[in-house]
Amino acid sequence: MKEDYLQAYRRSVEDPEAFWRERASVLEWSKPFERVLDTRVPSGRWFVGGELNACHEALDRHVAAGRGAQSALIFDSAMTGTRQQFSYAQLQQRVAELAGWMAGQGLEPGERVLIYMPLVPEAVMAMLACARLGAPHVVVFGGFGAAELAARIEDVAPRLILTASCGLEPGRVIEYLPILNQALARIGHKPERCLVLQRPEHPAELTAPQQLDWHESVSGARPADCRAVAATAPLYILHTSGTTGRPKGIVRDTGGHVVALRYSMSAVYGIDPGEVFWAASDIGWVVGHSYIVYGPLLHGCTTVLYEGKPVGTPDAGAFWRVAASHGVNVMFTAPTALRAIRREDPKAAHVAKHDLSALRTLFLAGERADPDTLQWAQDVLGKPVIDHWWQTETGSAIAANCLGLTPMPVKPGSVSVPVPGFNVRVVDDAGDDVPAGTAGSVVLGLPLPPGCLTGLWNDEAGLARSYLSRFQDHYFTGDGGVLDEDGYLHVMGRVDDVINVAGHRLSTGEIEQVLSAHEDVAECAVIAVPDELKGQLPVGLVVLKSGVKRGEDEVIAQLIARVRDDIGAIACFRRCLVVARLPKTRSGKILRGTMSQIAAGEHPQTPPTIDDPETLVEVRAALTS
Ligand code: COA
Ligand code: AMP
Repeated sequence: MKEDYLQAYRRSVEDPEAFWRERASVLEWSKPFERVLDTRVPSGRWFVGGELNACHEALDRHVAAGRGAQSALIFDSAMTGTRQQFSYAQLQQRVAELAGWMAGQGLEPGERVLIYMPLVPEAVMAMLACARLGAPHVVVFGGFGAAELAARIEDVAPRLILTASCGLEPGRVIEYLPILNQALARIGHKPERCLVLQRPEHPAELTAPQQLDWHESVSGARPADCRAVAATAPLYILHTSGTTGRPKGIVRDTGGHVVALRYSMSAVYGIDPGEVFWAASDIGWVVGHSYIVYGPLLHGCTTVLYEGKPVGTPDAGAFWRVAASHGVNVMFTAPTALRAIRREDPKAAHVAKHDLSALRTLFLAGERADPDTLQWAQDVLGKPVIDHWWQTETGSAIAANCLGLTPMPVKPGSVSVPVPGFNVRVVDDAGDDVPAGTAGSVVLGLPLPPGCLTGLWNDEAGLARSYLSRFQDHYFTGDGGVLDEDGYLHVMGRVDDVINVAGHRLSTGEIEQVLSAHEDVAECAVIAVPDELKGQLPVGLVVLKSGVKRGEDEVIAQLIARVRDDIGAIACFRRCLVVARLPKTRSGKILRGTMSQIAAGEHPQTPPTIDDPETLVEVRAALTS
């Protein structure tokens, strides 16, 4: 029988130690923890004194328990037309060999390994091999350009880099080595070894002595056993966009992460060991970390790795084909993907061509799900489609309709109710609860539950400064929202400079940094404008220096190309306007929010602090021309 949601939720906030001790007891600890929760750290430190290994929990324990022959990982590439399957025993063997090679390089626990790879099985193996050795992995999304990659390499100073010869996008090949070389040249960092997976579609020439062929190096390596790791030691670092130009390295601890993800698989997703889970994301994002790699494997499920797009590879039936061919029981994607499918196949003719009888539920996250698209998906699939809300920092859902507990009635437009462990409040600027139904800032009570960030890499005060200082004793999510009279949360979107393009989190500050580095640009601002398909798109507004010789069109073309090279094509930065002045307050703060409202077709009031109201008129004319 399912546990009652309200009861579980109440226990999790009233007695978090007892609640999480129980959840932690199902793991195979090499050394039991001495304390469930250390509250001397305001955000909380979980399972202090305990030791375990995340790779053991994800692979070895299942093999030992008789799940060795079960399929652990299914790779389905629409880009190459290939499929591969790895049982738990095979995956364990491959991971242990790769870990053996890494250990042979002298990799010590705590030393970072950077993974810049496409969505292929070896990328998953790389993450698990790092976990096996207690070496935090730092995955960089394969769509990021040289500047983003360089910032991450510089931040974590990896001992090893694991990459591939290429990624495959529709109609083009992404060669990783030139991007990696450019990134390394920018910062003057030399990793000791760079392991390169040669993909047959486009092998790379290995020119530097530290570049090694993956298969030649790893085959025959002596398999490495799992090393016991402190529960509080970092399992990984994953960078995400903040409000500044520099990405923040979110640090996830080992024990809290394993406990929280195992719990979420059953409580949130309502899936059983042995079933098939598919998160249509990328390992470069938190969704990929949590629900392509760790969550499903920790829970003894089969996970699906799909290299392809929701449309165009070859058609809008791609997702339904994958779900049907692999008997997917629970699926997870971003609303943008559904909008893209709906645009091409509004009558869902493709759905009818596939046997989706195994599919129980489709979960959505990563950006706001418009109720219309959600309803469409629910109608054409005839299955519940559940919107749930979380962020890189939390590692799993903050609010969801928890299908493994007694489900709550669905409210369209809401991300449902707080997941056990998360004490969600909506507050005004002074930190006081706003009345039900009123918009405010969404905050989380401290301590945070297991699995949330434990810090920012290389920035000891970063967690407190970026998240805990705005509201006393609370973590600020950066999202605005409303809690209604039934306790349901409605997330309205970011209240900071983070934007969300096709479910990809970007910072306007990062794009501004690229624009302002151009020799002809005096100042600039990047704002988000609504987009029917991708949710939001960035638009740049630049003021050129006086006496610029290049024509405006040429400068704009260069700026667009630079953002594509430095940040990546995923920024979808295609619109940049030259303006004479930017609207600012009298103290010099650029009025980005007001400009975004104008770009969204709204008619905001002119802020009383504006320096020159005429600048808004000029920007409105530019944005609407
Ligand atoms: N490596 C290199 N380049 C990549 C990339 C990767 N891993 N992923 C995307 N890109 C490139 C694309 O090739 C494209 O380049 P282009 O400008 O030359 O066409 C650009 O980045 C934008 O990509 P994308 O956002 O995928 O746009 P699209 O127009 O090609 O496809 C969708 C539209 C809706 C199909 C696509 O945006 C999508 O699948 N969105 C859902 C994404 C998602 O799941 N996000 C949630 C992550 S948790
Ligand atoms: P990321 O860290 O990349 O997962 O992005 C997290 C941000 O995406 C959140 O802070 C929200 O702004 C947004 N987001 C994620 N899921 C949802 C959702 N279900 N509804 C609305 N916004 C969401």
